[in-house]
Amino acid sequence: KTKLIHHINELKNSGNSIGFVPTMGALHQGHLSLIETALKHTDLVVVSIFVNPTQFDNQQDLLKYPRTLEADLELLKSLNDKKIMVYAPLTEDIYDDNITSETFHFAGLEHEMEGAFRSGHFDGVGTIVKRLFEIVQPDFAFFGEKDYQQLQIVRKLVEQHSLPVKIVGCPIYRHADGLAMSSRNKRLSKEHREAAPFIYKTLKDVREQFGIKSAKEITEWVKKQFEIQPLLELEYFVIADSKTLKPIKRKSRQKAYRAFIAVYASDIRLIDNIALN
Ligand code: PAJ
Repeated sequence: KTKLIHHINELKNSGNSIGFVPTMGALHQGHLSLIETALKHTDLVVVSIFVNPTQFDNQQDLLKYPRTLEADLELLKSLNDKKIMVYAPLTEDIYDDNITSETFHFAGLEHEMEGAFRSGHFDGVGTIVKRLFEIVQPDFAFFGEKDYQQLQIVRKLVEQHSLPVKIVGCPIYRHADGLAMSSRNKRLSKEHREAAPFIYKTLKDVREQFGIKSAKEITEWVKKQFEIQPLLELEYFVIADSKTLKPIKRKSRQKAYRAFIAVYASDIRLIDNIALN
């Protein structure tokens, strides 16, 4: 860690801008799209690979999270870009022997959706992102809209602690059939993988309906769609204000809205979202 910090300090002192792409590994094209954007923006890009224990509310999910460090390093090497640096710390490098989160308040953002269904998740995310920012000291950090709530929470974290980093949001990268890329997709059975594009298809239908039907009607419709879909179990569907993430009450022309969804495919939890206007 001290070596990395020293190295980064030297690079910054000689005028290089640092981009940062934090990940939990099992890298896929979605992660690579963030890295590509970072390479365009900054002189050097640090990619961190660390499966952060404190953001998992479910021990099984943590244990089963794919860990493919060798393949990840090969993939990054194959990009053959001298501007990429990898930081893959051990748990003790980040947490010493105290694997717990700090407590955060993100102006209510932390209570919605993922925060409501995964208790402590955003305390874990806040803790790791803040520590990684302290180590990497990036000028720009890149986060995917795949985890839109996380992106908004990181923006809030930066604002609340006046951290000297600019947050760049990057679009969701999808498979050709529409399924949002995720490290968890690797664990889907063949039949669940075939069923999973239904999630994005439903979100696109929602976007179509948003101009015509009320949010309540749309939500009822989505619930019905999943009732007749045996392989996917809906956990939540919410149309929310893109900024506050509060569920929509009355539609306002001045506001941007997004639809958010979480679905179980057997024991694998998938999330997705879409801009509605
Ligand atoms: P992870 O799930 O590995 O994702 C790392 C980054 O890649 C996040 O910013 C995520 O939004 C982005 N990402 C993942 N799939 C994407 C896709 N299909 N399209 C675009 N971006 C995608 O998110 C985390 O790790 C962790 O919570 C982390 C921020 C590293 C903290 O531990």
